[in-house]
Amino acid sequence: MCGIIGYVGPTGTDVTTILLDGLARLEYRGYDSAGIAVLTTAGRLELHRRAGKLANLVTMLKNGSRPAPGTLGIGHTRWATHGRPDDTNAHPHPDCTGLLTVVHNGIVENYAELRQELMLAGHTFRSETDTEVLSHLIESYYFGEAQHDLEMSVRLALRRITGSYAIAVVSQEHPDLLIGARCNGPLIVGLGEHEQFLASDIPAILKHTRRIIILDEGEIAALRPDSVSITTLDGIVVKREPIVVDWDAEAAEKGGYPHFVLKEIYEQPQALRRALLGRIRDGQLHLAELTRMQQEGLLNNIQRIIIVACGTSYHAGLIAKYAIEQWARIPVEAVTAAEFRYSDPIVGPETLCIAVTQSGETADTLVGIRQAREHGAPVISITNVVASAITRLSDAVLYLQAGPEIGVVATKTFVTSVSVLSMLGLYLGQLRGRIPAAPMGEFLSALERLPDQIQHILDKASHSDDAIEPLAQHMAHSQSMMFIGRGVGYPTALEGALKLKEISYIHAEGFPAGELKHGSIALLDPETPLIAIATASHVYEKVVSNMQEVRARDARVIAIASEGDEGIRRHADDVLYVPATLEVFSPLLAIIPLQLFAYHTAVARGCNVDQPRNLAKSVTVE
Ligand code: G6P
Repeated sequence: MCGIIGYVGPTGTDVTTILLDGLARLEYRGYDSAGIAVLTTAGRLELHRRAGKLANLVTMLKNGSRPAPGTLGIGHTRWATHGRPDDTNAHPHPDCTGLLTVVHNGIVENYAELRQELMLAGHTFRSETDTEVLSHLIESYYFGEAQHDLEMSVRLALRRITGSYAIAVVSQEHPDLLIGARCNGPLIVGLGEHEQFLASDIPAILKHTRRIIILDEGEIAALRPDSVSITTLDGIVVKREPIVVDWDAEAAEKGGYPHFVLKEIYEQPQALRRALLGRIRDGQLHLAELTRMQQEGLLNNIQRIIIVACGTSYHAGLIAKYAIEQWARIPVEAVTAAEFRYSDPIVGPETLCIAVTQSGETADTLVGIRQAREHGAPVISITNVVASAITRLSDAVLYLQAGPEIGVVATKTFVTSVSVLSMLGLYLGQLRGRIPAAPMGEFLSALERLPDQIQHILDKASHSDDAIEPLAQHMAHSQSMMFIGRGVGYPTALEGALKLKEISYIHAEGFPAGELKHGSIALLDPETPLIAIATASHVYEKVVSNMQEVRARDARVIAIASEGDEGIRRHADDVLYVPATLEVFSPLLAIIPLQLFAYHTAVARGCNVDQPRNLAKSVTVE
């Protein structure tokens, strides 16, 4: 998804370096072109844009056209929505005069009619983007008869927009003014000493400041080297204290691993410990975040739960269905947000909606949850990003505490999402008086053992004689792979398949093991390996039967099994063992070898593991 960076500061600053560095830290969001605009000390607004990776822009700038030092600049990584990912459609987009320019993340839904109107008024469009209407709209107010100032022109332009946006605007006529605004797109302000920053997210500016203001929907920020003022679209002044971010800049770097994804896979024990921290104390469960909802009675009459999520977060929701139904005996549905939002869902005050979104910014999830709220449903959100958009739509927020996840594919946020959802299930079960103290203690200690158990799998995988990497290298030529499981093993299979296709581009599908014979088994041949989630469970024997059906078709079978299960070797060509745990928590361990398998397969195929093609970390458009 598009990334924005902006800077305003003293004369003679190397603005280009600040912008390029910020854009490099936003690369993980996924993009297909990049650009910057810098206002040099000589007073010229210079624009440079390039299709493809940021490296293309950097090379172009190295070859002679690097802007001189200046005071002000904006940069952008674009993930194409309207118009091809080429040089012309890359941001920033200037107006007709070239005196002002805009970067934008989001979608201007009424761009076609605005474009028509502006063209009739004499504006010349150079790109196919929806964003360019913003540049011309601002121009029309700024240079129009009324001669509004830049901030007012931005405000008036944004009032005409329907859709979503986070924008940054600069003008050659204002060397000390950077304007940002947001509505359903992420944008933060970073406060420095005689310099200020704008960015899509915190890691982009962490190197420069830890004092951050999170802009709210419909707010405009005017940044000058020594001041920041925030107003609403209606011009009402907003007072907001900055928050101080305690993230370690190191934590956002690769820390010695060749890829962020591998680093984040290895961070999972630590991430999980943080997610459990303070929530399991002295053998008791404490979800203080839910106290207010409980006191207000919002959780007393829940008849049904709907988990709304996308991608990996949806898989976490599917796993949680089993846990919550088992413990709280409340019916749970996990629904992909893009389906939920158009399904005219039957929800009300007795339906608890749980949003699972690591980024907190996924457009479909936000809209779905907003609808649920409009119907009076209480909302609990589970996210990794403090003060992200979803938090403002929620009665309570359970943070994952996983630390920044830079790799586009979700790893540690998956494991922490499943764990936090599990704690929520236990909480609801306890609230309903359905979990006596003894089993509760057993569940909590099983949860507390998981970080060490994940560490054990990772330590084993680091040994030179471990099976995962050679197996992945061996399989890297496959055209297609299948994953099967039953019960919680089924969503684990879905997530294993998703990891593989996301980063290695091998076609992979997850199936409920018992359903395979009703059609998909026709796809199997000796060239199509199958991975079976066969950890200890009440359906273990059934999974083994399905593995036999597959082997009878000469497909190679790899089993994920519980340590100590030697018998499984008779039914599989390869076995990857994980420690034993309660069935309900087994996905948290079974997924680790699957993540590593996907990672090593992708590396063997030479894929871009941290930024897979066509994917974005945070999908802020529909
Ligand atoms: C994108 C990412 C996925 C992620 C999904 C949902 O598609 O590439 O990794 O699972 O969005 O993101 P969320 O932030 O809502 O969990």
